[in-house]
Amino acid sequence: MDKLIIEGGIRLKGEVSISGAKNAVLPILAATLLTDDACIIRGVPDLRDVHTMLRIIKSLGKNVEFDKGVVVVTKSKYTNYVADYKLVSTMRASFCVLGPLLAKLKKAKVSLPGGCVIGIRPVDLHIKGLKALGAEIDIQGGYVVANCTGLKGTNIYLGGIYGSSVLGTDNIMMAATLATGRTVIESAACEPEVVDLAEFLIKMGAKIRGYGTPIIEIEGVKELHGAEHTIIPDRIEAGTFMISALITGGSITVKNVLPQHLGAVIDKLEEMGASISRLGNSIRIHRKTSLKPVNIITLPYPGFPTDMQAQIMSLMAITPGISIITEKIYPDRFMHIAELNRMGAHIQREGPHAIIEGVKKLSGAPVMASDLRASACLVLAGLVASGKTTVSRIYHLERGYENLEQKLQRLGARIWREKE
Ligand code: EPU
Repeated sequence: MDKLIIEGGIRLKGEVSISGAKNAVLPILAATLLTDDACIIRGVPDLRDVHTMLRIIKSLGKNVEFDKGVVVVTKSKYTNYVADYKLVSTMRASFCVLGPLLAKLKKAKVSLPGGCVIGIRPVDLHIKGLKALGAEIDIQGGYVVANCTGLKGTNIYLGGIYGSSVLGTDNIMMAATLATGRTVIESAACEPEVVDLAEFLIKMGAKIRGYGTPIIEIEGVKELHGAEHTIIPDRIEAGTFMISALITGGSITVKNVLPQHLGAVIDKLEEMGASISRLGNSIRIHRKTSLKPVNIITLPYPGFPTDMQAQIMSLMAITPGISIITEKIYPDRFMHIAELNRMGAHIQREGPHAIIEGVKKLSGAPVMASDLRASACLVLAGLVASGKTTVSRIYHLERGYENLEQKLQRLGARIWREKE
């Protein structure tokens, strides 16, 4: 297992180019199961989670090639409808093969993904939606076993106690493309990744309106055909690099980004003292004033994303004054607090709130990554800490950041990988 070593204290400078969005590409790869034709997906990041999804699609009977950011999925008439526990348990997004399998093969057996370190993460909304479309669903031996004679369009309210569900919306939208009649998803997730999936499905021949709003209407079609698509840039990777500039007091141009996807992040970082210019598909960022504390509530899009919560916490850790984070999506997503405190931060957790009292400096320490975004938060803290920070368990980072250490090195960071 590898670990990352960071010697902090360098102001990052230069340009960094953002990769395709992990959370867009995973459901889009699952959507290729909806057709017998070939699909070509471009701008695919080389990530552990992408390889997991490709393995699942292969295990179901498709042929898959992945080279230089392009995935080609071929092979008509696949027949395997079982997504195995070994693969699904390593990545929750694999659960979104359920909707496409059910719509295309009229049956599916997909392992339940289980909880993870950021919370319990149920799938009740996915199941509620598919049942509403007419599927019979049983839970047997840790698997969701779903059957139907044909899905039928209907009205589905998909809001849960924590708001809408991103992968739940994806799953139901994909299933409804091949249902008979009209489906209306109410309280649909509005995330840009849902929009990217809808745009891919439309290229495949689906009839979808209202995506990007809480009400999505899908008019079912008999079949979908192959399509080509380029994945949107990863807004969370972009936000992480923006914070790397602020936390080190550097100046970075983040390229291949869609600034309109980062409204809430840009707003908060400006409030904290950043100067941010939007230049087409680039964002230039540096510190304008001394850092100022802010309060943040994570919310579904277009609110502040939970996937940026850990990273902004590392910036708040060195921001004079008190900042408060309220985590509304995953109230237990705070594993990084203890590790930041080991680096000298003063952060206290009170239920779904984190109270961050900024300190003058962080000091390098051996720390352990618990999940993808917590790992990014520890890397950011390491970039500004005095001395050496060692981040172990970095396989989490490889799930969602393409070439992170190389990209940081090009910005001047002293960061390298060693064997544990
Ligand atoms: N929820 C339910 N029931 C469900 C589904 C979700 O109660 O059936 C709850 C969840 O427990 C959570 C909230 O609803 O409290 C929102 O969860 P959502 O379903 O939207 O999460 P997800 O679709 O499983 C995606 C991203 C996550 C990101 C969340 C929220 C992918 C592959 N994953 O997960 O990304 O945090 O949306 O924006 O798209 C990450 O990239 O690090 C990551 C965890």
